[in-house]
Amino acid sequence: MQAMPTTTDHSLLLAIVDDLAESGWSRQNLFIAQDLTLELATECRKRAAQGGLSPASIGRGATQVVREGVRGDQIQWLERGQSAASDRYLDLMEGLRQALNQGLYLGLEDYESHFALYPPGAYYQKHLDRFRDDDRRAVSVVLYLNQDWLPEHGGALRLYLKGEREHDLAPLGGSLVVFMSAELPHEVLPAARERLSLAGWFRRRGGSPL
Ligand code: OGA
Ligand code: MN
Repeated sequence: MQAMPTTTDHSLLLAIVDDLAESGWSRQNLFIAQDLTLELATECRKRAAQGGLSPASIGRGATQVVREGVRGDQIQWLERGQSAASDRYLDLMEGLRQALNQGLYLGLEDYESHFALYPPGAYYQKHLDRFRDDDRRAVSVVLYLNQDWLPEHGGALRLYLKGEREHDLAPLGGSLVVFMSAELPHEVLPAARERLSLAGWFRRRGGSPL
């Protein structure tokens, strides 16, 4: 059996760097191989079936609250060593972290990420990925795990680009969306079917200036 690549084609990483420099966001349709997407989707469903996912909360520390009216996804944070597939995903993100630091001098220090499952009808209202009491999140990343997603399934990630322009991205399996956490308001529209993803954030050192 051929070993799965643990690094991404460098031209993909450079395309993401260029897009972020130019417009603050990027979308790559074939970021990971189909079989890894499937393995991660299976793992997400398994974690859900085992009761590992919990209602997502908003904010950090003492200000953390669960508000279903704001976001209705179920999440589980990732740690290294939980499965071969999720470790491979973390390796790919490490390659992206290094490319972003080399290309954009962002000083990204670590990566936090969670599986997310949106049941049918669940959504996440318009927001920025930065907490009032924690400004470490610098770059947001979402990898979608949905096979055979059709336009009528809904569930788009809606980006609010500058100049009042809205841009909707379907959560197609294997595609990756990357954007500057503090700059790009976005929301998740409700879907007609279960919607699976891995969402993550590259963080700077705590206390560094914005
Ligand atoms: C988030 C988020 C977008 C998506 O988890 O903060 O905005 O498309 N997710 O799942
Ligand atoms: Mn978000």
